[in-house]
Order: sequence, then structure tokens, then C-alpha cells
Amino acid sequence: MSSDLESLPGVGKELAKKLVNGGYPTIESIIVSPPKEISENTGIGFDTVLKIQNAAHEAFNVGFKTALEFYERRRQMLRCTTGSKRLDEILGGGVETQALTELIGEYGTGKTQLCMMLAVTAQLPPEEGGLGGNVAFIDTEGTFMPERIYQIAEARSLDPNKIANNILVARAYNSNHQGLLINHLFTMVPENNVKLVVVDSMISHFRGEYIGRDNLAERQQKLNMYLHKLIRLAEAYNIAVVITNQVQTNPAQYFGNPIHPAGGNVMAHACTHRVMIKKGSQGTRVARVIDSPYLPDKQAYFIITEKGIEDTPEKK
Ligand code: GTP
Ligand code: MG
Repeated sequence: MSSDLESLPGVGKELAKKLVNGGYPTIESIIVSPPKEISENTGIGFDTVLKIQNAAHEAFNVGFKTALEFYERRRQMLRCTTGSKRLDEILGGGVETQALTELIGEYGTGKTQLCMMLAVTAQLPPEEGGLGGNVAFIDTEGTFMPERIYQIAEARSLDPNKIANNILVARAYNSNHQGLLINHLFTMVPENNVKLVVVDSMISHFRGEYIGRDNLAERQQKLNMYLHKLIRLAEAYNIAVVITNQVQTNPAQYFGNPIHPAGGNVMAHACTHRVMIKKGSQGTRVARVIDSPYLPDKQAYFIITEKGIEDTPEKK
């Protein structure tokens, strides 16, 4: 790991060690982190950090690319099935790699269920609608249920032990810990052939810890930083990143819809695709794509079953 860092001009054994110990084991992790944060976590002087970052940018050739290069990269994009054809359809064929997909909804709408379903389907080969890789699942609320993974895998005639063995789960105990786990993804994802990263939920710790107007700016700044790390991760490793978000009600709003996704503009701008999930009649769920750069604003009905997520039996 440190040999990767030692390939940077000006970074010797000592600096590499400080970077690794501070939580920056790869060139990627240095590129995406603010210099002030690196300096604080490693004890390396701010100016030296800036020099290291410049070297890291050069090593990674971060700068202009031709449209052709971008196009070639986009063509490598894969899509992961949700188990519901109609939901896949409104997502443009499934949950995309190289993008950040946000699942938004009130309590009990099925966000966690959808994440666990994707943790199974992501392991299928691409010709069966999967991403052909493993899964990293950051659980902030303690709601990841291995039993449910077994149930879904068995109902789909997959080997449940094999499926469960390929899902790496970490419980994040606070927002700081969540941030450390996100930083860790930059080594973990390539080392473990991870193709799907889930953060369920992205925002709950931030909302719980940064209370009141005075702390809002700091909260948004931290949230923004981690969201951008996740986007960078999705792009750099051609993986899908799925995060969940809650809704909040604005009691001061009298006109229009008072229910909004939490996280404000920072969340809205960072996420590539936003999917709002609501409860429908007779246990169905309605998913709607909102604010997507290229997906139309459409909705689809699905149900939560023993097999995970499925289409509703008849078209609604
Ligand atoms: P919060 O995290 O509280 O915001 O909610 P969420 O959106 O993550 O909800 P979650 O995914 O936990 O959905 C819970 C709902 O899924 C339950 O109310 C059930 O309706 C449904 N559900 C959970 N487990 C099963 C299951 O094993 N079988 C079936 N058929 N439905 C299930
Ligand atoms: Mg949940």
C-alpha cells in the first residue's frame, strides 16, 4: 500500500507511513480529501500536504480529457437490476455504475429492503443483470439483516452462504466513523472486487449530531465532502454507489409539497439519480425518479416479497 504512495515524487517512507496511519493509504484517497483534513489527521504540515496533493494529481493525470475518452468510459457503465423490471426501466435499465443513486423515503418505505436486494443482485454476472462483483455495505442504523439476505438468495435459488460471504458489512457508529469507513473504501473496493457500495443511511448520523442552525454549515460541509468522495469512488472504479436519505417536513411551508428530501442542496447536487419511494395501496411501493440529468421523471410500482423486490402482479 505505502509503496503506491512512495511512487509519488517527494514522498519517502516516513511521509508514506504518516499518510497510511492517518487514513490515506492510496493516491486516490489523497486526491479526494481536503488538504486541511489530511494535515490534521496525519500531522503533516499544510504546505507539504499541498505538494503531495499536486504530485498525486499529476500521477493520476487529473485534468482535461477528450470527449472521446469520456464516451469510452461511459460505455463501460454497467446496470444492476433491482428485481423489478418496471423499476429498472425508469432507472434507465437498473442502478448505474459511475453514478451516485439516492433512495429517498419515509420510514418503512423499503429503502433498506432495496439496498439488501441490490446487495444480492449486484453479485449476479452482467448477463443476468448484475455487476459481477462483491458488495460493501455501510449500515448506520443497525438495520442490515443477514437473515434477509439468506431468504432472498434462497428464494432466488442462489447459494446463500456464497452470497452472504461476498457482502462486507460495517456498522458506522457516528458520522466520524462513517467518514473513516468511506475513506477506507478507496483501498477496500479494488482489493475486494467490490462493485456495489451501499451507505444506509447517508444522513442519519449527521442529522442526529449537528443539531440547530449554528451547526448546519459545518454539517453540510462534511456531508458534501463525503458525498464527493463517493462520487469519485464510483467513477474511479466503475462501481455503483447507492445511498439512502430520509424526508423532512417543513412546517413553515403552506403552499406546494412540504415534504423534502433531507440534506438540502448539497445532497440534491451531489446525487446523480434521486429516487423517491412512497407507500402505495395494498402494500405496494411507488418509486419516482426526480431531478435526473437524463432520466425522465417517471414512476413505477413494485412490491417487497420473500424474493426481495419484484414487480407488482398486475400493471397499476
Ligand atoms: P427507515 O430506514 O426506517 O427510514 O425505513 P426503510 O425505508 O429503510 O424501510 P425498510 O426497507 O426497512 O422497509 C420495511 C418494510 O419492508 C416493512 O414495513 C415491510 O413492509 C417490508 N418488509 C421487510 N422485510 C420483509 C420481508 O421479509 N418480506 C416482506 N414481504 N416484506 C418485508
Ligand atoms: Mg432503513
